[in-house]
Amino acid sequence: MPSQPAKPAILISRLLPKPAVDLARSRAEIDAYAVDGAMPRAELLARLAGKRGLICVISEVIDQALLDACPDLRVVSNVAVGFNNVDVAACTRRGVVVTNTPDVLTDTTADFAWALLMATARRVVEADRYLREGRFNQWEYMTLLGGDVHGKTLGVVGFGRIGRAVARRAQGFGMRVLYQDAVAADAATERELHATRADLATLLRESDFVTLHTPLIPETRHLINAQSLRTMKKTAFLINAARGPVVDEAALVQALQEGSIAGAGLDVFEEEPKVHPGLIGLPTVVLAPHIASASSETRLKMANLAVENCLAVLEGKTPPTPVNPEVLARR
Ligand code: DGY
Repeated sequence: MPSQPAKPAILISRLLPKPAVDLARSRAEIDAYAVDGAMPRAELLARLAGKRGLICVISEVIDQALLDACPDLRVVSNVAVGFNNVDVAACTRRGVVVTNTPDVLTDTTADFAWALLMATARRVVEADRYLREGRFNQWEYMTLLGGDVHGKTLGVVGFGRIGRAVARRAQGFGMRVLYQDAVAADAATERELHATRADLATLLRESDFVTLHTPLIPETRHLINAQSLRTMKKTAFLINAARGPVVDEAALVQALQEGSIAGAGLDVFEEEPKVHPGLIGLPTVVLAPHIASASSETRLKMANLAVENCLAVLEGKTPPTPVNPEVLARR
């Protein structure tokens, strides 16, 4: 009887939803970390030795040193749309396919950017604290006054899938939408989303809410800095559910302390999981621990897609969402 080909060995470096792990187990030998936290680097390298696939998350740094230590690796399947944790060029040189999980998290992430926007504008977190501290002793007219959202101008920096989904939601609030992106959207999209392309300075000057949806690349590091914050309206809010280093956090703290912008809603930070201490004490800031894609439904879809990507590469098929498809062409 012909022997079955050996199943490929895959390391899953983070606790993922069980149905996704079961799917992986049905077609591969799985070594799965059972902890919902980062695997220590030394353990990651040790457990990855001899494995052909890695399913990982954004806190794992996939660099040249890891590739050197794990020469059998054929695919890095990142359970995230962003992949700034992966040295894609080094992977490509070595013939390692990199994949990510776009699309499945677009709407969930856009929903959360809106949650931050609404929470900052209408002071939802402050109001909650106020009540829990026993300060709601009588109805007060001038307490916890926020800013209106409807009818205002939304500035979307980065007009890809998520930026557009955020803009789509603005229609329900009767907002004017400005967007900044290296590439202009087609006329039909601009019409549908009532969106006008603007340069960054114009967008910052005219927007009441500036929401960031760019990937982290060298050109976007500290895109929002002291100067851009000075360009914003004093009444404007900054929302970041993209990547922390897109904002110069120290400059943001200073702008908020000086009142040169009204507030910020932040899901991501420059040196996660560290948060600039200056942000913690500021009541005008709403902070979240990088959870924009964290709905049960979406985290399952992301994990399933990452598993499908990883298995496809190891089974010699085309993965659904490769980041460096040129490696596939070389096979
Ligand atoms: C992503 O997908 O890039 C998020 O930041 C993590 O869910």
